[in-house]
Amino acid sequence: MCGIIGYVGRKQAAPLVLEGLRRLEYRGYDSAGLSVLRDGRLHTHKKKGKIDEGLARLLQAQPLEGVLGLGHTRWATHGPPSDENSHPHFDQSGRIAVVHNGVIENYERLKARLPGHTFQSSTDTEVLAHLIGVHYDQLREGKFSGSQVLKSSGGPGAARSPLENLQPENLMTQGAHPLAQAVMGALREVIGAYGLAVICADCPDVLVGARRGSPLIVGVGQGENFLASDATAIATHTREVIYLNDYDVVTLTPERVDVASLGSDTAKVQISKLEFDAEAAERGNFPHFMLKEIFEQPRTVENALRGRLNLDEATANFGGLNMSLAELRAVDRIVIPACGTSWHAALVGEHLFEEFAHLPTEVEYASEFRYRNAPLEKHTLVLVITQSGETADTLAGLRESRRRGHKVLALCNVVGSTIAREADGGIYLHAGPEIGVASTKAFTSQVTALTLLALLMGRIRTLAHSRALQVIRALEAVPRQIETILAQDDAIRQIALKYAQAEDFFFLGRQYNFPVALEGALKLKELSYIHAEGYPAAEMKHGPIAMIDERTPTVILIPADALYEKSFSNLQEIKARQGPIIAVTTEGNTGLAGAVNDVICLPATLEPLFPLLAVVPLQLLAYHIAVARGCDVDKPRNLAKSVTVE
Ligand code: G6P
Repeated sequence: MCGIIGYVGRKQAAPLVLEGLRRLEYRGYDSAGLSVLRDGRLHTHKKKGKIDEGLARLLQAQPLEGVLGLGHTRWATHGPPSDENSHPHFDQSGRIAVVHNGVIENYERLKARLPGHTFQSSTDTEVLAHLIGVHYDQLREGKFSGSQVLKSSGGPGAARSPLENLQPENLMTQGAHPLAQAVMGALREVIGAYGLAVICADCPDVLVGARRGSPLIVGVGQGENFLASDATAIATHTREVIYLNDYDVVTLTPERVDVASLGSDTAKVQISKLEFDAEAAERGNFPHFMLKEIFEQPRTVENALRGRLNLDEATANFGGLNMSLAELRAVDRIVIPACGTSWHAALVGEHLFEEFAHLPTEVEYASEFRYRNAPLEKHTLVLVITQSGETADTLAGLRESRRRGHKVLALCNVVGSTIAREADGGIYLHAGPEIGVASTKAFTSQVTALTLLALLMGRIRTLAHSRALQVIRALEAVPRQIETILAQDDAIRQIALKYAQAEDFFFLGRQYNFPVALEGALKLKELSYIHAEGYPAAEMKHGPIAMIDERTPTVILIPADALYEKSFSNLQEIKARQGPIIAVTTEGNTGLAGAVNDVICLPATLEPLFPLLAVVPLQLLAYHIAVARGCDVDKPRNLAKSVTVE
């Protein structure tokens, strides 16, 4: 959510920042902008709209030179998408430029304390830029020492920031560059979340960054340094990174990286090696990242399984759980906070843990969980699920659970992400970068990892060796089975074209397939803006069936399983009301001929593994419908890949 990149070095900053922004565009694409410093002045382009339609054209018409710069691609929170609300924002003097990811919650109150200031935008970020400017001016005029500036910034009616109780002497302002000091002073007054990059016209080789709640990493180069909201933006330039922690403030010059912490008197700094396959973040020959990622699933599921299957003992092994078998055995309940597609994967997990391990499992919207006083007994295991590892609500759920003394495991894709670093242990998905805003391969990897974890939890409880072995064998077959589904892409596209003009859609499934129905509906609505709902098949008749008519298609997940006849009755109820039906069923099931309009057949598998296969045609269906409607599949309107605000 909002992408940030900053550069200080010897190369031209503008093309480098633009290239980084393009890689970050999946984080937000309402507008984009950049500033570079040249001849003691900041030069800026910013424009509403996607990068190629706005910022890139401005830059082409009027290139900007300079070796210090920063840029931003926006997902609007405060203030609608517009040229004025695009970042960078400036202080009153226009000499300090700020790009920001996050939300300054007390910006109205801060603004009220800046009389005489003129604001160009309706953003919270511009208020922060002005505040930094005030602190900077005070320092420059030498009126105050660093700590006095911080003291003076309180005052009657000041909002309470999380840093307010700290003694000024604990704030690492002494000795820091004046721009960094000014940033620290301003941040002490701020309530909210931020990942920031700041430059100033007076400081030709200084780039300052800060984070609280929103991700920010430093890329360490040779004679150059970088700031970015994620590795994608800088991985082609350097593999040495520092993952900043909350309250870190970093000062970069071409030769130095100085990290201070607003929260303690020493910052923990560690340079990590980025394991990032830059090629994997390219679209290759596919027209969209989403299609590429759908087609990667045979490989990504294989990656999630690799090295984790133990055939001898019919169980799963993990390297990073950091919990002994005895500790895992003591778990008597699992709570899973997650958001979006990860929440749907969690719902499949709920069935898996209950069936394989008889473990009561509850799935929570992380945004609700974080503020509820949910009872977490001693032996409750909290398991968060997140592709990005940065989702604000999921992170807050993790922190709240840890604060209450619970171990938290994370199922996460992005190595080095905040959640991956803060969890007590976990499982990496190894799915590679997921760039398409609509999540696809992360879902199948999450469900694969959940199946393995449920196997392990089952095998240290009641799950029989023979049944576990059956599951393992079936899991091993999944990558190949997904390939056979992908081979039906053309047929699925034909079905999509038939229904592309529908305005409402239903997705139905029972048991393991209810979460898949939810996921199918989510994919369709987020990509094509068609109203779509997922329901447990039998629940339709309690209201939603009123919507069914000949213009409202229903996708029903109806494998040849124990509940086949029940689902078939639900299908008849739709048919009796003239609703067109697309059935997703098991190969060899001929019983649907004549009963439905279209059929997609999937290879036979065990009931608990059907979601891993069934979601694939639904992804393709949503993709092709969206393409047919002329929608921007990789950048659906109003969405962002990684939601780092509440
Ligand atoms: C956003 C994305 C979704 C994703 C959700 C949770 O809404 O658009 O695709 O499922 O966040 O993200 P996470 O990274 O925590 O899985």
